[in-house]
Amino acid sequence: MRPLIGTSWKMNLTATEAGAWFDEFLPLAGAVTDRELFVLPPFTAIWVARERLAGTTIAWGAQDVSPDEAGAHTGDVAASMLADLGCTIVEIGHSERRRDHGETPDLIARKARAVLRWGMRPLLCVGEPRPAPVDETLTFLLRDMEASLEGVSADELQRVIVAYEPWWAIGQGAVAADPAMVGQVHRALAEWLGRRAGADPPPVIYGGSVDADAAPALLAEPGVEGLFVGRYALDARNFARLATAGIGQEVAR
Ligand code: PGA
Repeated sequence: MRPLIGTSWKMNLTATEAGAWFDEFLPLAGAVTDRELFVLPPFTAIWVARERLAGTTIAWGAQDVSPDEAGAHTGDVAASMLADLGCTIVEIGHSERRRDHGETPDLIARKARAVLRWGMRPLLCVGEPRPAPVDETLTFLLRDMEASLEGVSADELQRVIVAYEPWWAIGQGAVAADPAMVGQVHRALAEWLGRRAGADPPPVIYGGSVDADAAPALLAEPGVEGLFVGRYALDARNFARLATAGIGQEVAR
């Protein structure tokens, strides 16, 4: 399979700055076909992504969604609105949303189902709050994943993307988790997902302080099927570097 390499800009880049990002990125990596690339801008710049990425193989999407279909939910954005903007991937359950907005697995599962109803792929982030022995981490992650995917059928599960994002490896001052540990976690998550989804389990990608130095060892680890990048990709040249590095290498499953 082709590695999935994506970025969420989080709450960064205005629509104008997004235009400049694509001006820089597209000449460098717009024609990449060995990778599945995706970009998740803030809501206000999704239209810019649509304008710039239409006609390329690069997907775009959103960082959050309302679990409700429409109506009296001031400030929220419905899945139908994202689908209408050509979004194909919608991130749910990021640790910053759990932290800042008190999002629970139950709410995240409702968001997953809303995304699936509108034919898009939920990108579910799961991670443990602090470093712990792998068996403890896995117990925590599997419980969270089970609850966050409540009501998602085996068929629908094949459209999900799971991002393993240890909370302690995300953001300023953090460093990426050890690739061997990441691989161990990914393979266990994939096994669980495979049991539930049947033949075609969803991919598991890694996020948390990914940069050009950390990427090769992570991608070389069996079970790591892609990377999800935050602050490093805010510089379009960095994301292009990740998108084009080691082209031709398959991801081990
Ligand atoms: P970071 O963010 O790359 O800035 O650590 C990763 C993430 O939150 O997905």
